[in-house]
Amino acid sequence: MTATAEPGAGEVVCASADLAERGVAWVWDLLQYGRPVRAFALRFDGSVRAYLNRCVHVPTEMDWQPGQFLDMDKRWILCSIHGASYEPAHGRCVGGPCGSGRLTPVPVQERDGQVYWYPSADLTPVPFDEPGPAT
Ligand code: FES
Repeated sequence: MTATAEPGAGEVVCASADLAERGVAWVWDLLQYGRPVRAFALRFDGSVRAYLNRCVHVPTEMDWQPGQFLDMDKRWILCSIHGASYEPAHGRCVGGPCGSGRLTPVPVQERDGQVYWYPSADLTPVPFDEPGPAT
């Protein structure tokens, strides 16, 4: 779950230092059209990229271990199910059964040592559970 930094400032994903170059991705929960989905953010060539964790081939999560999305050469985002390969910078399919599709991007920005994502009409934060009245 992410926390709101301030209105209009985006939702905090993680600290910049949590994303090593071509390292383990940060995975978080959000809602797409009100339904739970997961997204991931990773650092590639110095920039943070984020996508929904959902393969174009079959709508399933792609990481082969939690947060592990890149192939052995750390060049492509690789779906662990049937091996679809995606270009990290734009999410475009470059091989395997994903055809001409591309991953669904999640708008992110890195500033002041934090990574933020930006909700839209389609992608919204998971609401915090409000504690019920004390009984
Ligand atoms: S589900 Fe990703 S390649 Fe088939």
